[in-house]
Amino acid sequence: MSSQNVIFLNSPNGFSSLFSNFELFLLCFASGFHLVVLPGLSQRPKQAQFAQSFKASSLMAFSVGLTRFVISSQPDSAKEILNSSAFADRPIKESAYGLLFDRAMGFAPYGEYWRNLRRISVTHLFGPKRVAHFGEFRKEIGSEMVCEIKNLMFKNGAVEVRKVVHFGSLNNVMKTVFGKKYKFGKNGDGVELESLVTEGYELLGIFNWSDHFPVLGWLDLQGVRKRCKDLVAKVNVFVGKIIQEHIGLKGDHKLTDSDMIAILWEMIFRGTDTVAILLEWILARMVLHPEIQAKAQSEIDRVVGKNRTISDSDLQNLPYLNVIVKETLRVHPPGPILSWARLAIHDTHVGEHFIPAGTTAIVNMWAITHSDEIWSEPEVFRPERFLEEDVAIMGTDLRLSPFGAGRRVCPGKAMGLATVQLWLAQLLQSFNWYNAVEGRGVDLSECLKLSMEMEKPLVCKAVARV
Ligand code: HEM
Repeated sequence: MSSQNVIFLNSPNGFSSLFSNFELFLLCFASGFHLVVLPGLSQRPKQAQFAQSFKASSLMAFSVGLTRFVISSQPDSAKEILNSSAFADRPIKESAYGLLFDRAMGFAPYGEYWRNLRRISVTHLFGPKRVAHFGEFRKEIGSEMVCEIKNLMFKNGAVEVRKVVHFGSLNNVMKTVFGKKYKFGKNGDGVELESLVTEGYELLGIFNWSDHFPVLGWLDLQGVRKRCKDLVAKVNVFVGKIIQEHIGLKGDHKLTDSDMIAILWEMIFRGTDTVAILLEWILARMVLHPEIQAKAQSEIDRVVGKNRTISDSDLQNLPYLNVIVKETLRVHPPGPILSWARLAIHDTHVGEHFIPAGTTAIVNMWAITHSDEIWSEPEVFRPERFLEEDVAIMGTDLRLSPFGAGRRVCPGKAMGLATVQLWLAQLLQSFNWYNAVEGRGVDLSECLKLSMEMEKPLVCKAVARV
């Protein structure tokens, strides 16, 4: 196989960034990395245009070590995969299992245990009534973030957005799940929790070669197993303590203490970074497009005014704010990537292609949301496109499904979206956002971990509006 055959995997964008480490690329190449483009597809070597070069109409197959992959870059085949019961499982990742996640929802094998968890989580966390009930917490935490930003501006004259929204997001989850709030920053009791989540996120995002080359497993070349073991010991103590304080949580669901630790740890973990990463991207776009920022602020001023605190009930009257969130999800889709992949439980077909049991299926959402066959001027950030045509984002329209679709669709989607919309509204009502260094653009480089993050943390000047 020539290097051209695999070079598209090294594109700076999309899931292909997984292979951006050159040594890993060589290892993969040396170890028999096979690519098969399924019939009807052509292949061009231009790496940065990988998705477009396939006209986003492709299903592509290749293997890494013992793992067979298919990738969909087109809404129809994506829909077929995500909605099919044949793909209701997730591939095994050593780090996920090492971090207890096989007992939590996201990586639990498809079956009774997983179904039970989805039921319980809808009742306690994700049902519409529960999401509405937590609205006051979200508002309170949003107001605290506004105060924190004012303090940071006073002290440093600039704000590293990620830090503030990450703390806010973590506190929001802790308050929602446990009714407990933490203090972050120096000597706060939340600092340890913050570091546990960050470490877990990093470990799950690592492309671990042991997952695909079992023979490498015992060597633990990347140190993933050792780090997971160390982390889990700390998580057991931290989350175990909270469970003791909230013994009622166990109810009669027949969950053991270690199941509870796994489930609650997953909620902390997933609810935090997804929301924080998305908000950072949105604010980056606000800095980059001051005219869009001003338009959203004048909508807020018109509907809510400058002084009244924004609530969940205002969000339905802020259509422009909502399409900014949608457009950011399109241009910077947080996933899906290998960690969100699906596993074929039995032999099946996608279109006319036979897919054997055990194949890992990935939807390259980046390719779909940047396809010029689906979107006009896909590279342009233009929220108005969603005022001209409403595109559902909750999993029914696969042109834009940032929360996945089908049986394993994100159960936290309504809560995640409500949180991002409310906090964005609060942050835009309270501040004008500029780059910390005047006249400098915003570095939009992407870095693929468990989600697609900004490679360089966004540092802003937030100038109070009220
Ligand atoms: C902007 C916010 C969020 C985004 C973009 C997001 C995205 C996703 C995606 C793409 C999946 C995979 C879906 C699939 O395979 O079809 C997923 C699954 C999941 N998400 Fe989210 N998510 C967000 C917020 C949240 C929140 C706030 C929580 C919980 C507090 C959460 C909990 C989960 C869980 C537990 C799963 C696994 C579901 C399963 O396998 O059955 N997510 N999310």
